[in-house]
Amino acid sequence: MKILVIGGAGYIGSATSAYFIAAGHKVIIYDNLSHGYRDAIPPDVPFVQGDICDRAALDAAFSAHQPDAVAHFAALIEAGESMTNPGIFFHNNVVGAITLLDVMTQHNVKRMVFSSTAAVYAGKDAPLSEDDPIGPASVYGETKLMIERTLRWYHRVHGLHYCALRYFNAAGAMLDGAGQALRGEAHQPESHLIPLTLQVPLGKRESISLFGADYPTPDGTCIRDYIHIEDLASAHVSALDALDTHEEMIYNLGNGRGYSNREVIDVARQVTGHQIPVVETDRRPGDAPILVASAEKINRELGWRPNHPDLRDIIASAWAWHKSHPDGY
Ligand SMILES: NC(=O)c1ccc[n+]([C@@H]2O[C@H](COP(=O)([O-])OP(=O)(O)OC[C@H]3O[C@@H](n4cnc5c(N)ncnc54)[C@H](O)[C@@H]3O)[C@@H](O)[C@H]2O)c1
Repeated sequence: MKILVIGGAGYIGSATSAYFIAAGHKVIIYDNLSHGYRDAIPPDVPFVQGDICDRAALDAAFSAHQPDAVAHFAALIEAGESMTNPGIFFHNNVVGAITLLDVMTQHNVKRMVFSSTAAVYAGKDAPLSEDDPIGPASVYGETKLMIERTLRWYHRVHGLHYCALRYFNAAGAMLDGAGQALRGEAHQPESHLIPLTLQVPLGKRESISLFGADYPTPDGTCIRDYIHIEDLASAHVSALDALDTHEEMIYNLGNGRGYSNREVIDVARQVTGHQIPVVETDRRPGDAPILVASAEKINRELGWRPNHPDLRDIIASAWAWHKSHPDGY
């Protein structure tokens, strides 16, 4: 299949593109490079620099490349920033996705895999299943929910087949067979706990901040479910294949095991051998106390299961990436 990967110069989109190619698909990447990197794109993959809000540029890309399917990763992703500047999130994420869906409809492209998020859930103490209450705590989560709802209507009205994958916390790096890091996290600015923590042993920051140590959790810090990007990537390959027979899919992608922020920092200490000082600060708006996935549904329906569930392996791969690419791409 020929897949137009929107946002494929970013962290998860570039790794997933490599997995699509390995599975025998053809990939074209479309990205405005606002937060992505030309060097993250796998070798020999055609690249179109363009914005999802630019209908004419999308139209030209669809005409030139005639894709059979779209994998849509492009978004602004910082939940914290979305609580101070909501307009750019609604515009980029929601208006951009609707523009993309309209161009897909115009070109009769009927398959989409979409990057959704755990941030659509209200959150609870036990692993979340797809039927659990929805209630985003941030504008970012709300934009993803709005797109999921839009997908449902494009299915009903235009016959779109889609799969919305609700990732929990994407982490880790893609390594080659010799353990060399090929692709990893290089968000600018970085807001994710693992890369920020690893900046301490890299000598890029003095300490790691814990935003809130008074949450209703055993050690007072937020609990999250970390999923290796290679496991996310393999789930997209399964989801894309399933679009032939499944018209509407929504799946969680996580390991079903939560780690507190303090536990993550402890594992990073073990992996790096650095003591990694911690500074406790106030809570950030938009952070739910606990977000852990039940990925039982995608396992049951598509047979997907994570190959790298161990947090130590996830952090070790991230450390291999950051040590070899201290300044990103
Ligand atoms: N990283 C996570 O832990 C996580 C968790 C849940 C969901 N997600 C979702 O996964 C997707 C990918 O996340 P990521 O971590 O790879 O982020 P990323 O910032 O590395 O990648 C996003 C890519 O989209 C591009 N982009 C953004 N706006 C665009 C626009 N208007 N037009 C064209 N390209 C645009 C950026 O340049 C970037 O290359 C996002 O949709 C995000 O919401 C990520």
